[in-house]
Amino acid sequence: MNALSLNSVVLSDDEKELVILDQTLLPCEVKYLHLSKAEDIWEAIYALRVRGAPAIGVAAAYGIYLVSAQLETDDMNAFCDNFRKQKAFLDSARPTAVNLSWALNRMEKVLDENKATLPVADMKKRLLQEAHAIREEDIAISRSIGQLGFELLHHGDGILTHCNAGTLATAKYGTALAPVYVALENGWDDLRVYCDETRPLLQGARLSAFEMQTAGVDTTLLCDNMASLLMKRGKVDIIFVGCDRMAANGDFANKIGTSAVAILAKHYGIPIFTCVPTSTIDLSIATGDEIVIEERKPEEVTETWYAQRMAPEGVKVFNPAFDVTDHTLITGVITEKGIAYPPFDKSFEKLGIKPKEN
Ligand code: MRU
Repeated sequence: MNALSLNSVVLSDDEKELVILDQTLLPCEVKYLHLSKAEDIWEAIYALRVRGAPAIGVAAAYGIYLVSAQLETDDMNAFCDNFRKQKAFLDSARPTAVNLSWALNRMEKVLDENKATLPVADMKKRLLQEAHAIREEDIAISRSIGQLGFELLHHGDGILTHCNAGTLATAKYGTALAPVYVALENGWDDLRVYCDETRPLLQGARLSAFEMQTAGVDTTLLCDNMASLLMKRGKVDIIFVGCDRMAANGDFANKIGTSAVAILAKHYGIPIFTCVPTSTIDLSIATGDEIVIEERKPEEVTETWYAQRMAPEGVKVFNPAFDVTDHTLITGVITEKGIAYPPFDKSFEKLGIKPKEN
């Protein structure tokens, strides 16, 4: 199996269904789901069947196209009303990754710019084009991030990553794991990748370790609480992590535990880069304090993956899905436009990263 051929999210050939690789079943089963109803697409995002900020954005773009195109009407007002209702519904699936609302807003912009001139049938085609563009751009963006990250690597490096920001989390290549794929394309076969298992949903164990092993990379899995010893023993040369939403000052939300990895990196003097498509940078918020952190159900901590319950009935559970890493802890931000170094607000400006229009 070729890891890069695992398409996390595409449109079916007949353009009537969203096809996602059900990531909740990995690594045991590679199963694709064909979805067309708004409720099923919402559930797939909520339940992390499709996950990772960029992949969620692509799923949302195709999703809003599909569910709006299903309405048979020639009346543009009715089409727009339905579009906005479905958009609000899909947008409610998860709160932290900005790509969900970013992609839906980008689709809505197409609607607003063309509703006065296009008939409904042409509007549907235009929305489809935009959704395809979002996916194609994501592949190019991930490849650029991979190239820039690759240029930071040395032969034999040990790379630590947290959660899964690999090809499964994007349309292709990933962000944090993209440098490894670019290294492979360049014939490098001596990198070592360490995957934090990433409690409670095990994206590191189930997805990153699976992806990297499938790609033929020297892969080692560790529990999250083993990262300090690994770093102390000098096994980690560089850390790449993903991002779900970055504020204007460089604070960023990523999978729960990322901030602990960054604190350890600072302690041990290990460079840590977050790999971020500019679509994930939200310049409308000044700092990470403004990022809404998704809280998920207690069973993910007490029961999921265990043969039997592993905590007393009724115990209180703290289960935030993300944390915010302070910008002072990170070495740099790898975007498709270049690498930003502190101070990040100034570097973003230099790279031409501007507030979004929508
Ligand atoms: O809850 P998840 O699995 O969607 O969280 C994913 C992450 O935190 C990723 O690191 C992030 O979305 C970047 S994916 C390129």
